[in-house]
Amino acid sequence: MSLFETFDLAGLQLPNRIVMAPMTRSRAPTEVADDLTAIYYQQRATAGLIISEGAPISREAVGYAFLPGLYTERQIEGWRGVTSAVHDAGGRIYAQIWHVGRVSHVSLQDGQQPPVSSTDRPAEGPRTFAYAWRDDGSVGFVAPSVPRALTTEEIARVVADYAHAAKQAIRAGFDGVEIHGAHGYLIEQFLNPTINDRTDQYGGSLEARRRFALEVVDAVAGEVGPERVGIRLSPLAQLLGAPAYADNEATYFELFAELSKRRIGYLHLSDTGARAGSPVMTDALLRRVREVFSGAVVLAGSLDAEKADRLLAAGLIDLAAFGQPFIANPDLVERIAIGAKWAVPDTATYYGGRAAGYIDYPSYAASSEDAVASPIT
Ligand SMILES: Cc1cc2nc3c(=O)[nH]c(=O)nc-3n(C[C@H](O)[C@H](O)[C@H](O)COP(=O)(O)O)c2cc1C
Repeated sequence: MSLFETFDLAGLQLPNRIVMAPMTRSRAPTEVADDLTAIYYQQRATAGLIISEGAPISREAVGYAFLPGLYTERQIEGWRGVTSAVHDAGGRIYAQIWHVGRVSHVSLQDGQQPPVSSTDRPAEGPRTFAYAWRDDGSVGFVAPSVPRALTTEEIARVVADYAHAAKQAIRAGFDGVEIHGAHGYLIEQFLNPTINDRTDQYGGSLEARRRFALEVVDAVAGEVGPERVGIRLSPLAQLLGAPAYADNEATYFELFAELSKRRIGYLHLSDTGARAGSPVMTDALLRRVREVFSGAVVLAGSLDAEKADRLLAAGLIDLAAFGQPFIANPDLVERIAIGAKWAVPDTATYYGGRAAGYIDYPSYAASSEDAVASPIT
């Protein structure tokens, strides 16, 4: 099975092609990764590569409560416990660095300031929420607040925040960083012309709209080395108030070519088709990505072992990322290896809470102990 071939990710040796996709779990009440976080990731360390949940790069970058950030010393310390737990178990882990832009709420921002974006128009649309404090003090899904458009001068500061977080990620022991450029968050708020209404050098033409993304990539690569950088993009998604537009394809394919020139380690494509009802990524699209992007290609989104193996065998991707299957199957790699059934995760405990639905999913061996024991006795 191709999933069990090794892979050289720009010098980092992966024992298999199975990647744990980034998943926010909102389980850090003090915004610092803790022992539970370390146990959760350590349980999943047989993945060829783990990509951490999205870690906010600054206070301003936060769009959901209880996320472990990557910008204060305490947060770096917290993540250090996670990376050493994963490394001790023989695993590898990248940090996903994240700025939500306008998909945030004043209650999450310093001094109840408006969140920032490429625009001053709010994110609207189906399932477009921040997870924040309501007026009555409870936490829940709320409509994103009206943002403030970043001034031209301020953009360099935001770019520097990404680079700072990347540097802290390496200090915290991560093996690399993935820039979250997908799903309607800040980078997409610049790329998408239906959102980006700027008249400065960051808005208008296709080249101007991608300037922010490339400045972030260059700054992060300058800090940690291009080979240690990945970027996640969702070219066909229409999530969180980011609708489809006419030159969507050109926007992304020209961006892929620019990323290729920069020799970053990988491009992580998030296919939201099956889950969110946007167009599904076809083999033809993946083939064209291969033609313009020379680094490694990772794909995520409703994959099963069979589809992943087919795409790997066809040479259309290098690594297959699994999200929800890893929630309920800490030993997903072993289950795929032996063809064992996958446990089904409980969607009610995806976000928030503590240990339940987080670190208490048993391995296949533990859950089938009775079944294995009975024929012997
Ligand atoms: C609970 C949950 C949290 C997620 N959080 C993130 C995130 O922080 N960053 C990100 O890029 N994608 C995030 N995603 C998307 C996943 O990485 C993945 O692309 C998606 O679940 C589809 O893959 P799957 O069908 O294998 O689950 C999240 C998905 C889930 C279910």
